[in-house]
Amino acid sequence: MTISPELEVQNVTVYMESLFVLDRISIYIQPEELVTILGPSGCGKSTLFSVIAGLIKPTSGEVIMHDQSITGTLGHVSYMTQKDLLLPWRSILDNVSLPLVLQGESWKKSREKAASYFSLFGLEGFETAYPLELSGGMKQRAALLRTCLFQKPVLLLDEPFGRLDAITKRTMQNWMMGIAQKMKTTILMITHDVEEAIYLSDRIYILSKLPGKVLAELTVSLSKPRTATIMTSSVANQLREKILSLL
Ligand SMILES: Nc1ncnc2c1ncn2[C@@H]1O[C@H](COP(=O)(O)OP(=O)(O)OP(=O)(O)O)[C@@H](O)[C@H]1O
Ligand SMILES: [Mg+2]
Repeated sequence: MTISPELEVQNVTVYMESLFVLDRISIYIQPEELVTILGPSGCGKSTLFSVIAGLIKPTSGEVIMHDQSITGTLGHVSYMTQKDLLLPWRSILDNVSLPLVLQGESWKKSREKAASYFSLFGLEGFETAYPLELSGGMKQRAALLRTCLFQKPVLLLDEPFGRLDAITKRTMQNWMMGIAQKMKTTILMITHDVEEAIYLSDRIYILSKLPGKVLAELTVSLSKPRTATIMTSSVANQLREKILSLL
């Protein structure tokens, strides 16, 4: 049985002014897969996400979801941008409720629904706190919860753990894998951390330096959860070497 992809990027090329940013990118993601895009800084990863989210219309190529073109149109994916900030003047509950309000729900209903996820996201008891009162990991979980509440079938996460320390990062990665399983989400994630890509992914796309093009598509055939033993296995080491030789 073949599963049709949840989302496909077909031959996307982007020129911004005279800058050649993306070169015929083709990628896909299956339902409930976790796929990472790994590439050097400035190679066009965030631009690719803007194209998928419909914020940028590509110079050529298409974004397809469930066999329909969504190229250049908004509202099909949940998108957490690289600098996804919580509004400092709103409580955590109100920050997180915002997507539901933006979709036309009342504040009261939105708060009730958002609050029901606080324990799953490790935020219980912090409903009335303000972003400044939260640790880095908690802020990140709040931002992730807000993104999840857009309730679209695909979650785009642009370096969600990029600014966290190594220990918090690993805790958050484990937590996110649990959430992804519980909520049955499809996740496309950007990183420039090779370990993170191997630790989390079902598949990895490696992008070249500018103009970004797909250098390789790698399947991570390591069982989950990815224990220390699995991460130091010869399969993991070969994958690591392969990625490093490509980058
Ligand atoms: N609004 C813009 N106008 C002109 N050039 C831009 C714009 N946004 C990005 N660029 C350029 O496009 C290229 C790709 O940028 P992009 O942000 O997509 O890279 P990235 O791979 O996400 O980098 P990083 O890993 O540092 O986040 C860069 O060279 C950047 O300078
Ligand atoms: Mg970026």
